[in-house]
Formats: sequence, C-alpha cells, structure tokens
Amino acid sequence: MTLHRLWTICLLIGMIQTNFLLKASAKTFTWREWWKHTVIYQIYSLSFMDTNGDGFGDLNGIRSRLDYLVDIGIDTVWMTPVYESPMKDFGYDISNYTKIYPLFGTMEDFDALIHEMHVKGIRLIMDFVPNHTSDKHKWFVESRKSKNISNTYRDYYVWKDPKTGCQDPDKNSRSDTCIPNNWVGHFGGSTWTWVPERKQYYYHQNLKEQPDVNYRNPKIVEEMKDALRFWLDRGVDGFRVDSIRYLYEDESFADEPIDPNFIPPPNMTQPLVQSLLHWYTADLPEIHTVVKSWRSEVFAKYSTPPNYRFLGTQAYGNATALSLYYGSKDEPEADFPFNFQMIMLKQETLSGIEVHRLIDEWLTNIPHGAWPNWVFSHHGKDRIANRFGPANHRGGLILNLLLPGTPNVYYGEELGMSDIDIKFEDQQDPGGKNNPCCWKKFNRDQHRSPMQWDSNTNAGFSASDKTWLPVHENYLRGINVLQLINFCYDPHFIPC
Ligand code: GLC
Repeated sequence: MTLHRLWTICLLIGMIQTNFLLKASAKTFTWREWWKHTVIYQIYSLSFMDTNGDGFGDLNGIRSRLDYLVDIGIDTVWMTPVYESPMKDFGYDISNYTKIYPLFGTMEDFDALIHEMHVKGIRLIMDFVPNHTSDKHKWFVESRKSKNISNTYRDYYVWKDPKTGCQDPDKNSRSDTCIPNNWVGHFGGSTWTWVPERKQYYYHQNLKEQPDVNYRNPKIVEEMKDALRFWLDRGVDGFRVDSIRYLYEDESFADEPIDPNFIPPPNMTQPLVQSLLHWYTADLPEIHTVVKSWRSEVFAKYSTPPNYRFLGTQAYGNATALSLYYGSKDEPEADFPFNFQMIMLKQETLSGIEVHRLIDEWLTNIPHGAWPNWVFSHHGKDRIANRFGPANHRGGLILNLLLPGTPNVYYGEELGMSDIDIKFEDQQDPGGKNNPCCWKKFNRDQHRSPMQWDSNTNAGFSASDKTWLPVHENYLRGINVLQLINFCYDPHFIPC
C-alpha cells in the first residue's frame, strides 16, 4: 500500500470520527434523534471475528473488537442475524426469534456484548426478518401438518390449493396446470412448494426453506411484535427490518405480467425474479398498517428518554416508492427506509453526472423534513472498491460521509477491502448455487469475506485451518487494520 493511499485512509477514519460532530454542530438534536448524528457500521456477524476457532465469526468476537470501533469513531452497529437458524440463507431463515444460534454463542454472550457496547457508547441495531421464517420454525412444522380448524398454526403461512382442474397434484406438483400462479421468487423458480400432508402449496418469496408468514392472520402480526419486544427488553437500540416490501400478497393471487424489458440470460434453467413485474407480490399498501403499528404499539412504548428506539426498513425501489416508509407526521413509520441509490451505481456508468442525478433524485423525492441516509455497499452487493473501481474507492467513502444524512458503512470499507474471487464449487450462498446459468451475478459470498485485522494467518480473523469463506489475499499487502492503525497513529509520520 502506498503512503498516499494509507494517508487518505487515515483521513477517512478522521472523517468518520468527526462526521457526527459536523452534523451536531449544524443543528441541535434531541434524544430522539441520535440516529441522525451517527455512522451506522454494518457487521456481517459470520465474518467479523472468530474467537472459538471454528472459522465463523461470533458474538464474543464482536465484543473483543469494540475498542477498534470506538477508535475509528463508530457509535452505532447494525449486526446481521444471530438468531437460531438452519443457515440455509445464513441467518435470514430464522427458526426461533428469541434464541441465539450456538454458532454465534449464547444469550449470556449477547447480554455481555450489548452491556459492553453501551458502556463504550455504542448502540446496537439488530436485523429483524418478519416476512418469512425457516421451514424448521415450530410455526411452520405445525402449520404444514394439516389445514384442519383444530390446528392453531393452520393460517400462519400463505397456503393455496392447486389450480382448478389439476390432476393428481402429488405427482404433478411442479406442473403449470397445478401450481397456483406464475409468481417467481427472489432466488429464482416458482414461489410455490407442494406439501402432500396438507394437500396444499405454501408461498415463499425466497428459498423453499423460507416460507412467508401470513400477515392477514392477526396472530402473526402479534407474534412478530412480541419478538421485537423480547429484544427491546434486552436493551437493543433499534432494528433494521429485512424484506419489508414482501410482507403482503394480493388476495387475487393473479399471474404477474412479464417485464417487457427483461432479456433472459443464456442457459437460464429456471425463471428469474427479474422476468416479472411484481404487481401482486411487492409494495402492497397493507404493509404500512403493520409498520405504523410497530411504531405506535412497540417502538414508541420503548422510547423513553434517553433511549429512543430506531426503526429502519429495507426494500429496493425508487425514492418515491421508498418514501412511503417514512409515514406521516401523525402516523410515523420508519425513521428512514435504507437508501440504496448508490448501490445502483456501476463502474461502467459511473460519472459525476450520474452520481449527482442519484443524489438529487433521493433528496428531492423524500418528504419535506425527512432525514436522508446513504448505503454504498452491504452484504448483498459489490464492495465500493469493486463497484466504483479501486481508484474511486476513497472518493466513494468520502462522499458517503459528506452527504447530508446518516452514512452506513459496511465492515472493512474503511480499509479498502474488496470482493473475493469465489470459485463455483466453493460457493456457500444459495443466490449463486440456485442459478448456475448466472451464478457470478447472483453470488453474494464475494462481498462477505472475513474482516482483515492483521497480517497473521487468516488475517487475524480466526485460528481455524479453514475459514467459512476465504480471506482476501490482499491482507498481506497492507489491507488490514493493524497496518492502518500503526500508520495513522505513528507520531513520527509526516504526510507528504
Ligand atoms: C434481504 C437480505 C438478504 C436475504 C434476503 C432474504 O434481502 O439482505 O441477505 O437473503 O433478504 O431474507
């Protein structure tokens, strides 16, 4: 790493440290507004720090690195799911909302982590996945057994009969003459899976191991509020709510129209989610009733001075569609919907004009007085160095910190970490595995490699022989925390 590059990275860290001061000096914030003068640092829990030598990151690992976060000026962490899960979608398939998955540690480890974070002045935002559970969740295990009225969990999920006229669905469950409609899921292929015991299909926007819950059943709405309360009682400062736009499905269950702009990739083996216009599966107005009730019945009740609880929603869409998640003055919803405008930027189309257009589009379309935020990278998209190009990585980070609103920084971006090159056979992520035709485009392992702490084995992330995903080899070329800290805090260093 050149001196020039290192020096710029030190400047970036200085900027993270002073970012909230700059914003704080421009306006006086109330106790309710801490999320306006913070930098949200996203920790991908599996990849931050491993303390038990199994090759996966854990809660004690995060705890052991809190001083680093304090040093670089982070005062809010968003931690990806650590709940009990069969890990088909790496924690986004939850089998128990109120348990910690042993791979990450225990509930005592969680309590110790949040306690120490608060002592050090760091707030914790947890991921919350209310759209779907794992198929191993007790609710689903029970629900699939029977549609009999005596089954309490009967309507916890979205169940549908085969099409009228379908012959022998047990045999023909994958045939278009039986599948309820043409809906295609996030990971490709039909959203419907047949359950012979119940003689019905269930709906899953993601993997078949991630059945969507049924928000038209008031019991589910209440169950999810209880799950939120469980963690708020333990002191969590807020939630990032996953996949919010898929909470409801249109009751007509009509076929979705083909997107006329979709060009099928060569060798496509199953329909892709991009092939349809999602008129009946996404962004239904009913979602806002639920978000409002979370705000008024849950978050507001837990927001007493000085502990305001933050609510952020995750959905892709244009600024106008996402703006609805702010709600209104009288009926507030999210503090902000995460803004993915900058995730749309690609190296091929990167230009000052394009950056300006995307910023402008967000700032002019959000409601008057609403607080903006910026996401430049996360666990599902290319890192800044890859999307903006290595030469523009620092520019991207600086922009994130200077734009009006709250910056979101994905772990390792402060070092200039870049995506790893994953081989087809080493893939873990179902995104790529399910779509061999275009796995490179859909694989998300690339952006989830272990944090680079120093130049020891596995970049200091783990003492294991093998880490769950490979470490980027550039940790040996100076892209690691230790090198950065040594450099930035060397009193003899004179920048040239
Ligand atoms: C969100 C998450 C992603 C997950 C998906 C399904 O998009 O960011 O990681 O696979 O939801 O839960």
